[in-house]
Amino acid sequence: MHANTITINQSMDEFDNHNSVWLFGYGSLIYNADFPFIEKKPARIHHWTRRFWQGSHDHRGTPEKPGRVVTLIEAPGDRCEGMAYLITPEEFTHLDQREKNGYLRLKVDIIFQDGSEKEGLVYIAEEENTAFLGPASEQEIANHIRHSVGPSGKNIDYVLHLADALRKLNETDEHVFEIERYLLQGK
Ligand code: SIN
Repeated sequence: MHANTITINQSMDEFDNHNSVWLFGYGSLIYNADFPFIEKKPARIHHWTRRFWQGSHDHRGTPEKPGRVVTLIEAPGDRCEGMAYLITPEEFTHLDQREKNGYLRLKVDIIFQDGSEKEGLVYIAEEENTAFLGPASEQEIANHIRHSVGPSGKNIDYVLHLADALRKLNETDEHVFEIERYLLQGK
């Protein structure tokens, strides 16, 4: 699959006739909501786990030297915490552009802190996309991230902002926090 997912995402018209849609964010969408939203609430989704396994050609790296950003990997029984935004479907024009490097809109059950659930969308970069980098140890990932930079800034800042945002949500994610520790130790 080509890494540019805009066309595929625009044919995903599932929620187009709705006035509003819940979008679940688990990476930069937690700390950088550069779109208007009606409401936002901490939330989680089940059976997925966050990993720095996606290459970034357009935000935190370049096509020649991709950075590493998060995607979700299927993990039965696991859960991923993040932020849900209630948005109008028009916002997908901007969001599809922002997430175009491999991320597809998928339908998901979003669970809020009070236990209520809503069907919504999440952007996931699956392993078939050409920008997918796949697994590596947390130390290797940190070494890669330390040397990456792209149009949206330094790759390290993506990690530090995400780790801070998770702490503000009172959540722990050992994968993210371990990478952060390596980066802060300078190892
Ligand atoms: C997300 O934040 O939900 C998707 C990945 C990213 O844009 O960092």
